[in-house]
Amino acid sequence: MFYFGVDYYPEQWPEERWAVDADLMQAAGLNVVRLAEFGWSRMEPEEGRYEFDWLDRAIQILSERGIQVILGTPTASPPAWLMSQSPDLFRVQDDGLRATYGNRREYCPNHPHYHEVSRRIVLQMAEHYARHASVIGWQIDNEFGQRCYCPVCQEAFQTWLRRRYSSLDTLNQKWGTTFWSHAYSNWSQIPLPLKTGGSPNPGLALDFARFASDSYVAFQKMQVDILRQKCPGHFVTHNFMGFDFDQIDYFELAKDLDFVSLNHYPRDQWKFRAAVNPSRVALQHDTMRGLKQRNYWMMEQQAGSGGWEILSVAPRPGELRLWAYQSIAHGADGILFFRWRTARYGTEQLWNGLLDYDARPTRRYGEIHKMGAELRKIGERLIGSTLKPEAAILLSYDSRFAFQIQPNHPRFSYPAHLHQVYDAFYRQHIPVDVIAPGTDLSAYKLVVAPALHVLTDSTAREMESFVKNGGVLLLTQRSGVKDEANAVVDRPLPGLVAGLAGAIVEEVDSLADGMSNSLEFCLPQLGSVQPEVGILCEVLRPTGAGVVATYTRDYYAGRPAITQNRFGKGQVVYVGAVGGEELYGPLAAWLSQLAGIHPLFQAPAGVEVSERWQQDRRYLFVLNHTDLAQKIPLDGQYTNLLDGGSRLQGTLTLPPNDLAILTAADEYPY
Ligand code: GAL
Repeated sequence: MFYFGVDYYPEQWPEERWAVDADLMQAAGLNVVRLAEFGWSRMEPEEGRYEFDWLDRAIQILSERGIQVILGTPTASPPAWLMSQSPDLFRVQDDGLRATYGNRREYCPNHPHYHEVSRRIVLQMAEHYARHASVIGWQIDNEFGQRCYCPVCQEAFQTWLRRRYSSLDTLNQKWGTTFWSHAYSNWSQIPLPLKTGGSPNPGLALDFARFASDSYVAFQKMQVDILRQKCPGHFVTHNFMGFDFDQIDYFELAKDLDFVSLNHYPRDQWKFRAAVNPSRVALQHDTMRGLKQRNYWMMEQQAGSGGWEILSVAPRPGELRLWAYQSIAHGADGILFFRWRTARYGTEQLWNGLLDYDARPTRRYGEIHKMGAELRKIGERLIGSTLKPEAAILLSYDSRFAFQIQPNHPRFSYPAHLHQVYDAFYRQHIPVDVIAPGTDLSAYKLVVAPALHVLTDSTAREMESFVKNGGVLLLTQRSGVKDEANAVVDRPLPGLVAGLAGAIVEEVDSLADGMSNSLEFCLPQLGSVQPEVGILCEVLRPTGAGVVATYTRDYYAGRPAITQNRFGKGQVVYVGAVGGEELYGPLAAWLSQLAGIHPLFQAPAGVEVSERWQQDRRYLFVLNHTDLAQKIPLDGQYTNLLDGGSRLQGTLTLPPNDLAILTAADEYPY
């Protein structure tokens, strides 16, 4: 069964309403709900008194309609009785201010009492629901995040460092604490990188970012262990915030889970723009699939305008369904919409559900109803089908954290750079996996490592053997600059991969506003456009590589900006300057060609193409993200799964915000 459902808060509505809600869910083809992740104060109204009757009754009503349940552990939003026990339970921000009660996520993730009380509620829930026929799995907490800078965390950080470095001598040496006389003679002297301390030692700051990330991994693990022990038949997941979230190493957070889930809102108050950027959405999905290199779920798929204080642009007709299918196109095997009904109370009054305040089913409900009917027919054949990209992009949380500490340039953003490079492949319909540095690369033909700033020996060796065996590798500026302790390497850049690149960085220029340069390609395959570059420009000196592009202006006019090196059976292209679409577009086409990768399909701009494979059966998703009808030339005979199996040949016409799922025409019509 393809799980298709909603996030539901029965505790926020009168009990008489629950059966009506469940009927409407069933009518829309919804077969799963997530419950209770913000229900702590209803489940434990006072310390040690647990009340699950209300939840039992809600689950009963749902299960009578064939709707199954995912339970959220409620630790993201602690009850007032708990947080009033001690001010120490509250998280401290990087400016030294303590959070106060009244929102959510205000807790310190390392506080022993918070752990203990959380352990108890999770245990109670697990024991109560372990054998419940309708409960299929668990979501731990809700959107882990927020670094804490409190004294409890400081002590935990010092313990974490002691485990990592064993001796203070090693720590002092790795961080280079001779600089500004920071040598530590006792672990207890080590500070947290609070804003009040100014610009911290980069080694300390990177370790703190890793520690803060590990704190949530450990808090999650405590809960996972209980659930694994008490509820062995249930799955355990957490709802991640996609590529955009930057405070937790998501590869680490994913390790203890059965699969990853994503919350994503293309139109919300924080992205208050007229147009949605579908490639940015695609990157969220590919990142989630990459975390465990397996399919994932959408735990919160947008159901309406999203806003807290501000009402976001309303999703246009067709968009909710289109985005939900976009999730499936990238590997989602379950979809839940956030939320069922728009709340009357609380911070999220402006966050629209499928039903409005007045309980009226909206046009949004209608759209999801339509999708529910479709998935009842075709969902089964999609579940578990996989994507098989031949290209991968390395997402390094170490590098991301290091750039948070030292962005290198006021306008350089590691995630924006990674997205820009990703976008070039997306536009050419070349699917990519987003994977961690150090992953076995042998399954890929092309690997892209944008600004791999912090580079370890093992990742460098993995890239070397990948290229030696015939792989094509793209490296971009500021790669290989830092070692694992965030110290600059003592060899020519790009450090550990300088040999692989066959070039070294002679010097780097950081361009202020109003300054720019452009490149001239030396290879005809790259075209005659002279792409503008800026932000950071590295002047390269080949030590074996050929020159692919040179700068056209300034004191380094004529000097190499892009090189290409043959290494073993493969090739390495090093790009020393930050550019835009007119740089990465031709590069992506050329690199794919070098690697022998072909685009999935030819489609007009604004039309996305993605494919999933069920053994030898290919399902091609063609998604029209534009507000115009699009004509897409077909390269053969297809069946469209979404319109009951019509045969297609010649041209596919897609209305605005609509899609087709194509498969070979021999598919039995249904
Ligand atoms: C998510 C969160 C939900 C809800 C939603 C809308 O990030 O997990 O609980 O808050 O956003 O704000």
